[in-house]
Amino acid sequence: MPASKLRLHVENVSTMAPVFQIQREQWEAAVARHPALARRLDVTIGWDLQMFDERMQTAEILIGWRFPKDDFARRAPHLRWIHMTGAGIEHLMPLDWLPKRVAVTTNSGVHAPKAGEFAAMAILMINNHMPALMTAQRDGRWHRIFSTPVRGKTLAIVGVGAMGGAAAERAKRLGMRVLGVRRSRRPHRHVDQMYGPADLDRVLPRADIVLLTVPLTAETRQLIGKRELDLMKPDAGLINLARARVVDYDALGAKLARGELSGAILDVFDPEPLPPDSPLWTMPNVVMTPHVSSDDVERYMPRTLDLVFANVSRYLAGRPLTNRVRPEREY
Ligand code: OXD
Repeated sequence: MPASKLRLHVENVSTMAPVFQIQREQWEAAVARHPALARRLDVTIGWDLQMFDERMQTAEILIGWRFPKDDFARRAPHLRWIHMTGAGIEHLMPLDWLPKRVAVTTNSGVHAPKAGEFAAMAILMINNHMPALMTAQRDGRWHRIFSTPVRGKTLAIVGVGAMGGAAAERAKRLGMRVLGVRRSRRPHRHVDQMYGPADLDRVLPRADIVLLTVPLTAETRQLIGKRELDLMKPDAGLINLARARVVDYDALGAKLARGELSGAILDVFDPEPLPPDSPLWTMPNVVMTPHVSSDDVERYMPRTLDLVFANVSRYLAGRPLTNRVRPEREY
């Protein structure tokens, strides 16, 4: 094998949903899409850490999600880059185990098409009071709640990254007014007004629906607590596609039980899977989905691998990697 080949190791976890696994056939299909780059790689695909330590002795690139972090500099002496097969990487924090020579990239953007579509569905569900109607159905109650069209209503998106941006695009197509909150305050073409995190208190009272798509970091943990929920309109709805710990679910549950919000759609929980005795299962006016909102069961891995190959090309050319994590931001 020519010395110039890059050693790349894929580490799979067999207990994770198949959508998050890289099967040999998917890898081969990606190789067929990127033949010239693939010739520069020497690839191994491992499962459940069986060959992890051995591969890490020589690998320069690691693709994975869960792997041991202890003594990492010694375990992976030649590693330069880790690609994470998901977007929210709070389980890697703090990054004190990561040698300075190793870049981390994430799957940000891979979820966007599916997440945008799910957000559109959730927006329409909230607007049509589906969480409350479904609660009434389960209770066997004929409870008629009439609604108005969503056109002209206001969506606040907290965290306008790839997923939030895709949701903004869908919301504009529905005729909504879109307010965004993002750390950089950078404008977005589908967001009518962009704000910074310090403006959250001014944004929440204006929204008919609040959509959360922020990464979980020290800054966003419990971002939406009782105080923030109380700032929302009494008939507003909440959609959480971010992480459970961004919201105080106890405070949310109490508010929903008092009928103070119109409903919530929650895709993320802590822990996952949600234990059977969690009070969330029976919370009124809530629709829960088990963390499935943004992962396209057919396209997730092909899109992931296309992103990896695009970054392999940048890596070989010495150019900055797309989606590189900035440790101080935690994403
Ligand atoms: C992720 C996810 O990729 O939540 O982080 O799906």
